[in-house]
Amino acid sequence: MPRLAVPGDELELTIETLAYGARGIARVDGFVVFVAGALPGDRVRARVDRVKRRHAEATTLDVLEPGPDRVVAPCAHFPACGGCRLQNLAYPIQAELKERQVRDALVRIAGIAEAPVAAIVPADEPYAYRNKLEYAFANTPDGVAAGLHRAGRFDDILAITHCWLTGELGNAVRDAVQQWARDNRLDAYEQRSGRGSLRHLVVREARTTGSALVVIVTADADLADRDGFVRALRRFPEVRSIHWAVNDGVAEVTNLPTTLLAGEATIDERVLGLVFAVGPTTFMQTNTAMVERLYSLALEDCGLRGDEVVFDLYSGVGTISLALAQRARSVFGMELSTASVESARQNAVRNGLTNASFIAGDVAKQLPLLVEAAGRAPDVVVVDPPRAGLAPKALRRIAELSAPRLVYVSCNPTTLAGDARLLVTHGYRLDAARPLDLFPQTPHVETVARFSRS
Ligand SMILES: C[S@@+](CC[C@H](N)C(=O)[O-])C[C@H]1O[C@@H](n2cnc3c(N)ncnc32)[C@H](O)[C@@H]1O
Repeated sequence: MPRLAVPGDELELTIETLAYGARGIARVDGFVVFVAGALPGDRVRARVDRVKRRHAEATTLDVLEPGPDRVVAPCAHFPACGGCRLQNLAYPIQAELKERQVRDALVRIAGIAEAPVAAIVPADEPYAYRNKLEYAFANTPDGVAAGLHRAGRFDDILAITHCWLTGELGNAVRDAVQQWARDNRLDAYEQRSGRGSLRHLVVREARTTGSALVVIVTADADLADRDGFVRALRRFPEVRSIHWAVNDGVAEVTNLPTTLLAGEATIDERVLGLVFAVGPTTFMQTNTAMVERLYSLALEDCGLRGDEVVFDLYSGVGTISLALAQRARSVFGMELSTASVESARQNAVRNGLTNASFIAGDVAKQLPLLVEAAGRAPDVVVVDPPRAGLAPKALRRIAELSAPRLVYVSCNPTTLAGDARLLVTHGYRLDAARPLDLFPQTPHVETVARFSRS
């Protein structure tokens, strides 16, 4: 970094590539500068925000010369809205850069020089793919709005006229609820004053069955014009499940107990020919079309012949476990959330699968319970941890199972790479890493990695 560069300085920079997290990377005298709002090939004028020992951070003020892959973002809310950060980068390049980020992480962090990374599987649809959107209510000059967070701001909500990540139904349901709230002159809840009632709106769609589920969250222990709310949603035959939750706490959460206002408690979603119940708080991957591709790659990597004992760790509501159970002797799932474990058991029954069992527990602490239940060590282990990756103790316990094959489904290449480095020290080898783009227009990328040990 030039010696004189301090926060507030303006620099002209040429962007080389995109870092994980969607900031451009430029170099000044070999010093790395992460530049928000810049894309590969851009020449930008940027303001330095922070200077650290090994890198600096800057924000684009002006694009002096656009890079070759810049496009016009279709959304009227771009770039103010925090939902999409990459809409102004041509989709094939987004996918290509995500593949490169997975490879770079495995080389740089895992220290695997020739990382066996396959070509990324791009998304079938770069827009309208999300099956779930959570809106926050805000008071605006036009009345109450069900909006999305402004980029980088947890306390600023942007009113939305059309979201490109959900489809026509999702947009129409949001607008109908917003209109109902305005007709009733309802206010959004405000953290500072504690006044107002409406907090969140969650719209979930089961894309394979066409059904939708809606949850409204209020601060008040009363929902004004409850019948009118249900009537506004009943206009959509797809809306089969309407819930209400009360959040009188400080945290802006939506995973709350709900009261069923109308319809069925859950809606059905199909994944790889299996049926799963989706309730207000059920964890499901948010891109239904691509999740089939993700799970298919994981199944393929398991290389099952039919006589294996498989452990599915971080098993959620049993989506991967049940797909595995159709191809293995038996599957044992472990998951922290007792509610998800209960759902997984019900999903197993619903799909007529008797060779899948689920235990509620923390993988770092309770893995021996699965070995006890199985009566032996597994042939194959599948892990699908949260973004933070495997906790060190969990990783050690998993490695101690000594399964010949381990399939790692990752939603964060950085933690995947850190875990890969440790798995190698435990005698595993990375055979293949296959990135998939489940979240176009955002920086996120999934990877299915196959490890083996002799
Ligand atoms: C990325 S999700 C994967 C869920 C599932 N495999 C799927 O595809 O739907 C991660 C899951 O790990 C669970 N989890 C988080 N920490 C855990 C822990 N320490 N032990 C067991 N499960 C945990 C979460 O509750 C969540 O269901």
